[in-house]
Order: sequence, then structure tokens, then C-alpha cells
Amino acid sequence: MMTTDVLQHLDDGVLVVTINRPAKKNAISAPMYQALAEAIVAADRREDVRAVLLQGEGGNFSSGNDIGLFVNGPASDHKASPAAPFLRAVIALRKPMVACVCGHAVGIGATVLLHCDYVVASDDARIRFPFVDLGLCPEFASTLLLQQVVGRNKAAEWLLLGATIPAAEAHRAGLVNRVMPQNTVSEEALSVARCLAAKPPQALMATRGLMRDATRALVESSLERETVVFDTLRRSPEAQEIFRRFLQRTQAPTALGA
Ligand code: COA
Repeated sequence: MMTTDVLQHLDDGVLVVTINRPAKKNAISAPMYQALAEAIVAADRREDVRAVLLQGEGGNFSSGNDIGLFVNGPASDHKASPAAPFLRAVIALRKPMVACVCGHAVGIGATVLLHCDYVVASDDARIRFPFVDLGLCPEFASTLLLQQVVGRNKAAEWLLLGATIPAAEAHRAGLVNRVMPQNTVSEEALSVARCLAAKPPQALMATRGLMRDATRALVESSLERETVVFDTLRRSPEAQEIFRRFLQRTQAPTALGA
């Protein structure tokens, strides 16, 4: 499936992957998940790729899963969710991944950050884990990883209350490595990614692998549990009504589920 909503190019050993659907604030559709998964799988295999940089076009990182994808179709096998190959590819990636976050980073646009090795955010970045307000539960092993990164109480605040987290707070809590002015954030993220790409690859991958292996089994089991609960919730009348309201815009998205 070809899409121009995900772009990629190689820059000094860095595969720059750009989510490119600015009219929808970079909401991720099924073909985009497939393109993202293919890019990450290829990055892992390609010898000329030493690091990955994930960014969004048009001033936003990503508004997350396209909510249209959540609307009930035929009974679904959760393993066949359009996001699944992307989640698997990111978790299996052996090379470092840097994220450059501008504007909105919502849903999977927020949880993917927990799988990155370095996150640069612009000072206008707004991160949000909106799952409960959408009638869903968090995904991408974020129920485990967010606690590990920011501590249990902060993770509970962010996952249960779902407030928008400004860049400075995300930085203080440890989710973001660096906050930069909007006009320099891309340059900084690329420079970090290039720096990683220039390291001795064997030692870099071994170090990263040891760090990840420490929690790999827990990540896998969290992902598995979340996926089952997520799909049950997604199909519920409660969640379907919330998606319908978002798509028909009879209620502001920030007040979803209120
Ligand atoms: N899925 C589908 N469409 C989305 C979307 C999403 N996740 N996020 C934004 N869009 C669409 C909007 O429906 C709108 O489409 P339209 O122009 O055809 O009406 C367009 O993108 C622009 O979004 P808009 O809401 O007008 O922009 P905003 O600047 O006022 O708000 C957000 C930006 C990201 C705060 C808001 O769009 C939002 O909350 N989106 C939902 C995010 C979400 O809950 N994602 C998690 C899924 S798990």
C-alpha cells in the first residue's frame, strides 16, 4: 500500500521518517501504520541506516491513531489491528531512535516516545495520553513504561486524568531529554541522531540491547494485556459513542467523555 503520508530519506546514516498528514494533525491511518512499520523494519536491516529520527510535518508530531479506525467494523482480531505491525517493529528495532516533537503528540504520538532513546521537544509541544477520556486504555506498553520513566504517581496523573502536558513538564518528569525553541528543534534532533549514527555501531547496539533486554519480557506481557483490554473497550458502546461524538464534532475533543 503506497502512501505519501509517511516520508523517509537518509541523512548521514540517519533514516528520517516524517509523519506527513498535516491537515489531520498527523493522525495515523492504516496505510500510514503499514508504511511506518515497513520503514522501521527496513531501518533495522539496512547497513546504511545507523539511527532513526521520527518527526511530524506541519508543526505537530502526531494526533495519534486516526479515530475513524476505532469505529466498529466486523468483529476484529486484536492481533490484526492496523497499529500492531508498527508497534512490533518499534519494539524489535535494534538501532537508536530519536523523536523530534513539535505541537501535539497525542495517543500513540505520546506512547511511541517511551520507546525512543532520546526525545527533543519544541517549547510549544503538548503531550497527551487521552485513552481514558476516549473510553480506551493505554497501549504500546505505556502502562508499564510510563511508570518506569516518570514514576507511578506522575504516570497515574497523566494516564488517568489525561491532562495536556506542556514540554517543560514532560522535560522535568524525564519523558523529554531536551526542550528547544521551535526554530531550532529539528536541527537539534537531527544532530543528536547523527551523533548516534556516528558511534561504533556494534557497541552502540550492544549497549542499547542490554538496556532493553532488562525489561523486554515485561514490555511484551504489558503489550499483550493492554491489547486485549484495549480491543474490548474499543468495541464497547461507551467508547463507540465517544468516537462518534469526536467524528461528528458535537463535542470539543478536549472534553471527550466528560
Ligand atoms: N483522528 C482522526 N482525525 C483527527 C485526529 C485523529 N486522531 N486528530 C485530528 N483529526 C482531524 C480533525 O477531525 C480535523 O479534521 P477536519 O478538518 O476534517 O474537521 C483535523 O484533524 C484538524 O483537527 P482539529 O481538532 O480541528 O485541530 P485542533 O488544533 O483544534 O486540535 C488536537 C488538535 C490534536 C488537540 C485534536 O484534533 C484532538 O484532540 N484530536 C484527537 C486526538 C486523540 O484523541 N488521539 C488519540 C487517539 S488514541
